[in-house]
Amino acid sequence: MSIAREQFGSRIGFILAAAGSAVGIGNLVGFPVAAAKNGGAAFLLIYALFVFLICLPVMVAELSMGRRAQQDPLGAYRKLSNGSPLWSIAGWLVLITPYLIGVFYMVITVWLFGYLVEAASGNLTQLAKPDNFGQFINANNVFAYFLVVAVMVNLILVGGVKDGIERAAKIMMPALFVMLLALVIFVLTLDDALVGVKYYLVPDFSKIDAGVVNGALSQAFFSLSLGMGIMITYGSYIGRDEKIAGSAKIVALTDTGVAFAAGLMILPAIFSFNPAIDTDTLSDSSVSLIFTFLPKIFLALQTTIGYVAASVAASMFFLLVFFAALTSLVSITEVPTASLVRKGYSRKKALTLLSATMGLLTVACILSFGRVESLSAFVSYAGQSKSLFDVIIDVSYDTILPLNGLLICLFVIFRWRKQNLNAELELGDPDYKGSMMERYVNLSLSSFIPLVLLLIFINTVALKYFGVTLVG
Ligand code: PHE
Repeated sequence: MSIAREQFGSRIGFILAAAGSAVGIGNLVGFPVAAAKNGGAAFLLIYALFVFLICLPVMVAELSMGRRAQQDPLGAYRKLSNGSPLWSIAGWLVLITPYLIGVFYMVITVWLFGYLVEAASGNLTQLAKPDNFGQFINANNVFAYFLVVAVMVNLILVGGVKDGIERAAKIMMPALFVMLLALVIFVLTLDDALVGVKYYLVPDFSKIDAGVVNGALSQAFFSLSLGMGIMITYGSYIGRDEKIAGSAKIVALTDTGVAFAAGLMILPAIFSFNPAIDTDTLSDSSVSLIFTFLPKIFLALQTTIGYVAASVAASMFFLLVFFAALTSLVSITEVPTASLVRKGYSRKKALTLLSATMGLLTVACILSFGRVESLSAFVSYAGQSKSLFDVIIDVSYDTILPLNGLLICLFVIFRWRKQNLNAELELGDPDYKGSMMERYVNLSLSSFIPLVLLLIFINTVALKYFGVTLVG
């Protein structure tokens, strides 16, 4: 006899946990950087369209697969395809994704935690020095920070679905919303903040080209935690009486709302620091914005509000992004945990095994920023030398994510089949039957969504590994 599968305790608990996964560094920093460089509201508009027209149906499909199968992604692919070996490969692909994304995300979360500790201990001046970040990532403290973050993730996960994941989300997500709101209000009171608000809210469509559109979709897909097995796994913890489509809409709205608010925090801060800034000169990378540019902006505040208040603002910002990253890390680590639990491991054993394997890979990444030559110049392709960390990002974010998305659409429509998807979505939600949403989900998943994901996949593979620009 099988033991009943653990479930989220309430609808709001699931929504907060899923939103906790979705809201991450991508929303708080990735989105504002992209909006700043690519026409402000013009980018926001395209991003929001992608979230609702392309990503939401995929999220609904993932959640339904999980709830139907009551299994982790590999188990779900196997069960719903009656053990087809071909579809097992898709399951395995989803399963290795959390290893790769979880590891690169862990590295950035560790840095965030380090900056939080430093800012809170009064070292903002040091953080704002131009060469600080380069020294920080290769200092031995990083290992201690890694240990603390890993312990936090494990402590949450060992509690299980309801007492671990859900409870942590119920504490951290409201705290996150409050901190975000407080920082937005604070930033809007700064001199010249309105220059940034205007820049953000007046769309500039001249910046939009095929590359920006491609980037917006990848960003939206990542931001909703799709293609990583997370929504399949979380779906397996939702009760049969819950409305999946309705909850997914709220998660997508929350995720977009947070991204929008983050733009309202970061862009005015940048313009208040330098009202004449040419946004083309900003770096594309979230990492350089968080760890190099923002500390400078916070430090500059000391002339108006004093060093202590500037440090408090910086600490609150790093705490905010750290919370967002932690709930995302929890969700991604739950995917392989659920697989091991299906294999008969206890949660504790599963987590120990994962900490060891993912931990080793994380340490290898930490060593790949110049400390160990073979990891720092790991391979070279498309004319560029890549570190292990770079390779992991290229393979997971740029390659496997769209591929997984494509396979999920194909699987749900052609193997599991529309009528089963619809039946699952109608459970607990009789109004779904015959609704616009149902028709849209069916139509989009069987036509343009897989097509678009295929194009993105081909485009990035050509660019990343062969240096060939097809579109962009
Ligand atoms: N949604 C997260 C973000 O926007 C992405 C993510 C989720 C990464 C889960 C890792 C784990 O940052």
